[in-house]
Amino acid sequence: HAAALAAGAAAHPGRIRPRRIRATAAMRRSVAETRLHPADLILPLFVKEGLSEPAPIGSMPGVLQHTRDSLKQAVAEAAAAGISAVNLFGVPEVRDATGSGATDPDGILNRAIADARAEVGDALVIQADLCLDEFTDHGHCGVLAPDGTVDNDASLVRYAEMALVQAESGAHMVAPSGMMDGQIAVIRDTLDTAGRSDVGILAYSAKFASAFYGPFRDAVESTLEGDRRTYQMDAANRREALREVELDIAEGADVVMVKPAGPYLDVLADVAAVSTVPVAAYQVSGEYAMVEAAAANGWIDRRRAITESVLGIRRAGADQVLTYWAVELAHWLREEW
Ligand code: PBG
Repeated sequence: HAAALAAGAAAHPGRIRPRRIRATAAMRRSVAETRLHPADLILPLFVKEGLSEPAPIGSMPGVLQHTRDSLKQAVAEAAAAGISAVNLFGVPEVRDATGSGATDPDGILNRAIADARAEVGDALVIQADLCLDEFTDHGHCGVLAPDGTVDNDASLVRYAEMALVQAESGAHMVAPSGMMDGQIAVIRDTLDTAGRSDVGILAYSAKFASAFYGPFRDAVESTLEGDRRTYQMDAANRREALREVELDIAEGADVVMVKPAGPYLDVLADVAAVSTVPVAAYQVSGEYAMVEAAAANGWIDRRRAITESVLGIRRAGADQVLTYWAVELAHWLREEW
């Protein structure tokens, strides 16, 4: 059939004209295969302990470290913009070897979860980063063994404790981002045993060790020296992402994630093709910073670049996109209606 069509096109070069459906904005709109909607978008937010004014983040122009008060305002604005969720990260004042702040009900992240939930109730999905890196003095995502390596199974014990405190604080979903083996199973079992089968898990399943997290590490004032290559995935690997996703779904993940998004669209498309649960993609801090820097220099059309980058992530197969532009983009989408 395709060959016959091609033969027809060759015989009558003027008959088949793909440009016809691109002629007007209304025509293009009517044939768009992918659409963006505010409900596709999730906003990551940073909240810092002991802060009196919201603080800019040098490498992420336009993104703030929030105070507890300004966070509430940001969460209310996110709800008003019609996005579906916020994903909270805490920056504690004090860090230690086991990341005690992460499991302290009065710790900054847990207080922020409660604040956000009190502010908007069930109008947004309140998601919490479930990882130790913001809370440990060494900056790794887990606790360390005496030899200085990251101790997988000891970290799982801390994650289980963290999941319970986040659930008690009011998180609708916990988002384990530490890439420890077995983390989804342990968190699911712990929540279920505690009677919290209502709390969901957004699993950072295919999370790659990436240079594109650089600005985020400023945002959370990361103390990490070295890298996370012994637990996050190697950028070379595509098939391995399917193994991670398969395991997380089997362990009880409600949503699986690919991260970063833009440099890993092949992985995202693979995952979207086989996943039996919704697929999220995280457009990370470095993806954000690159567009902002180019736009600030007048080298790129900011609004078009942002819209195209998120559309590309959706086209590759993401159901949900975590993006620092979520609220601004949602406003643009509503303007266009
Ligand atoms: C770990 C975590 C990181 C990001 C989200 N969760 C940093 C890391 O793995 O080093 C990065 C997000 C971004 O770059 O926007 N808690």
